[in-house]
Amino acid sequence: MKKRVAIFISGGGSNMVRLVEDMQSGDHAGEPVLVLANGADAGGLKKAQEMGVATAVVDHRPFKGNRPAFEAALQAELDKVSPDILCLAGFMRVLTEGFVAPWDGKMLNIHPSLLPKYKGLHTHARALEAGDREHGCTVHLVTPALDDGPILGQANVPVLDGDTAETLATRVLAQEHRLYPAVLRRFAGGDTSLIRL
Ligand code: GRF
Repeated sequence: MKKRVAIFISGGGSNMVRLVEDMQSGDHAGEPVLVLANGADAGGLKKAQEMGVATAVVDHRPFKGNRPAFEAALQAELDKVSPDILCLAGFMRVLTEGFVAPWDGKMLNIHPSLLPKYKGLHTHARALEAGDREHGCTVHLVTPALDDGPILGQANVPVLDGDTAETLATRVLAQEHRLYPAVLRRFAGGDTSLIRL
């Protein structure tokens, strides 16, 4: 039996596309069962549908100020497909402990920095401001603390002279597209050993 994988997105879903492509390329212990976005305008929804993956939308805006109700709606969509693994991929909403706790050890996220450095937003600009010569991305298990769970994989990206946050982000994203599928392929097979690219 394959592991059933749900993926949360907020925008274009470039990481989701790579995860689905890799699962559909054969010899993978996981299969994509749902791509969910927190807005109907997420470009990744159409891409998921074109790849034959079921989609859902739970818009966070009607739940403004009531995060538990939003998260209950998310979980209700997940309950329809009973996933074994939940991948956050460019999902831009913070999830509370109430949602995360039942997914302990089964939820992954990709973050565009070499955690534990630069948790939160604007990671590329912060690395440049700090004068770092190396940056990168991390796939980690999600825990209630933001961007803080056990690390499953990292990819290093050199900072080049003249880099802007945009040029650096582009190179990091290209490594995310290599790292996340590699980590999910192993994780779905029950292997949590660290991957370093
Ligand atoms: C990327 O910067 C990624 O690091 C972060 O969300 C951004 C968009 O990702 N998690 P995607 O293209 O929607 O996968």
